[in-house]
Amino acid sequence: MNSNSNQIYPVVWQNNQVLLIDQTRLPAEYSHVAISRSSDMAQAIKTMIVRGAPAIGVAAAYGMYLGATEIETEDLQEFLAHLQQVGDLLKQTRPTAVNLFWAIARMLKTAHEEIGTVAEIKRTLLQTAQQIQIEDLATCQAIGDRGLTILPCSPSKLRILTHCNAGSLATAGYGTALGVIRSAWREERLERVYADETRPRLQGAKLTAWECVQEGIPVTVITDSMAAHCMQQNMIDLVVVGADRIAANGDAANKIGTYALAIAAKAHNVPFYVAAPFSTIDFDLANGSQIPIEERDAREIAQIGDTDICVAGVEFYNPAFDVTPANLINAIITEKGVIKPSALIDYLNVVA
Ligand code: MRU
Repeated sequence: MNSNSNQIYPVVWQNNQVLLIDQTRLPAEYSHVAISRSSDMAQAIKTMIVRGAPAIGVAAAYGMYLGATEIETEDLQEFLAHLQQVGDLLKQTRPTAVNLFWAIARMLKTAHEEIGTVAEIKRTLLQTAQQIQIEDLATCQAIGDRGLTILPCSPSKLRILTHCNAGSLATAGYGTALGVIRSAWREERLERVYADETRPRLQGAKLTAWECVQEGIPVTVITDSMAAHCMQQNMIDLVVVGADRIAANGDAANKIGTYALAIAAKAHNVPFYVAAPFSTIDFDLANGSQIPIEERDAREIAQIGDTDICVAGVEFYNPAFDVTPANLINAIITEKGVIKPSALIDYLNVVA
């Protein structure tokens, strides 16, 4: 996978380093940050240079490989112990997206199962990171195409609302929720995307809108608080969002504001879908109350730009995600099919 194409790839392996699109600078500036150390990758994930559940997983996999190259010993047990520490460092970056933990676990499993010298294991780790990336791209394209089956027949051109950014930037490429929207656009079933701006980090206004404009997809940005009004005005035919972690009962964690959107959708009979790869399902968690919710720096809501917007003495609460209960979700669009949240558990043994 290289960067010489019109497609948006947030993570690129090139010349023995990882190039990350710096998502903190979009849309004003399209630039890359070169990462060649695992600690720099951890920092890039923490500061959201790379963000979005599947993209974090891909980045962490490369972070594991970079960490492996920093380990100097030829002793296998010592190497594995150090690699575990690299994984522990990367795991401390963001708690909610399970793809991070999934990718690190897969890299560690590869290292433990591979038979060979430390040098050979390092080579295999690079191949595994690349494989995770290639698989995620194919998975997103499959999600996009599966998503076509849930599109209502009428009207012929749909107005789809989405929240945050679950697009190419949030995955290896193509996107999950935005993947469904891309497929709908390709099939001429899309009239327009409504993108919630997504306070406080504005991933909808800054990233989803940017991605849509790159492809000529008509997009209207609204503030999060306008979504219910738009539904009441009959402006929205369906909602499709991504997910950071889905519990076994179908409860789904996604960017803060998703839960309110699902309640509004239910109240207005607007179908509400979650699009996510199987790697986002955490079958170890019985329900969404067990999903760890990241709390981020108060400055994200206390300031606009560098300017304080509140009087001194105010306290802030800044959860980055919320959990939408399964009963508000019509279905989960995965690469393996469109699944009712209540039927998810039947797939426990189908997971690769
Ligand atoms: O805080 P972020 O920007 O990493 O949050 C991203 C989201 O909530 C996305 O909707 C989710 O990761 C799905 S991405 C395909």
